[in-house]
Amino acid sequence: MGARPRSTPPMEHYYSKRAAEYEQIYQKPERQHELDWLRGRIPELLAGRTVLEVACGTGYWTQFIARKAHRVYACDINESVLEIAADKPIAKDRVHFFKADAVSLEGVPSGCNAGFAGFWWSHVKKSGIEQFVANLASRLEPGARVVVLDNQFAEGSSTPISRRDAEGNTYQMRHLASGEQYEVLKNFPSSADLAEAVRPVAREAHLETLTYYWLLVFDLK
Ligand SMILES: C[S@@+](CC[C@H](N)C(=O)[O-])C[C@H]1O[C@@H](n2cnc3c(N)ncnc32)[C@H](O)[C@@H]1O
Repeated sequence: MGARPRSTPPMEHYYSKRAAEYEQIYQKPERQHELDWLRGRIPELLAGRTVLEVACGTGYWTQFIARKAHRVYACDINESVLEIAADKPIAKDRVHFFKADAVSLEGVPSGCNAGFAGFWWSHVKKSGIEQFVANLASRLEPGARVVVLDNQFAEGSSTPISRRDAEGNTYQMRHLASGEQYEVLKNFPSSADLAEAVRPVAREAHLETLTYYWLLVFDLK
């Protein structure tokens, strides 16, 4: 019998091992048009702000946000991705990369008037989303702008769903170049799920739905 694929708890291990190959996801030809639009739209939404970015990974979005934001405090749990991020050509006075857990958000700076999370929401269990949103909101200034980017499920482009658990969370089998295989939690929330999740903290929320991505923008109460 083959080894059991690893499941959700070591999700951060999967991303740690994937660090060097992570940005290949931004090379998918069919997604280029939407990515090009997002590379303009997201920095525009955060222009002039002091941004707390959670689960920043290799700093792919950080590099574009930093061009327009006042400053970006970008954190991730994995050193391996933070090392790649730190090598990005971003002005040192515009960005600070550091290690922090996106769940507890312990040690993140206070005083940010914006938040950004790219492709993190989909890795949070349905039962944990309310807590994540409340926690993030509590770390930001009242009235702060929050921008959340994540994937739409797109047949033929997305990795197929391999399993659904009792709570309705969905999972994918992910393969690394090394041949290692991981089962990774990956949820695809509906617009109603998103609206409900941010209602307790948001003044007004706006969802931009594309073919491969969704972009949720809201200002805190
Ligand atoms: C899908 S990647 C997104 C990376 C980046 N935001 C982007 O859009 O390119 C998810 C990231 O979450 C990070 N991660 C996993 N568990 C985490 C945790 N508990 N706290 C903070 N980051 C975590 C991984 O290291 C990985 O960089």
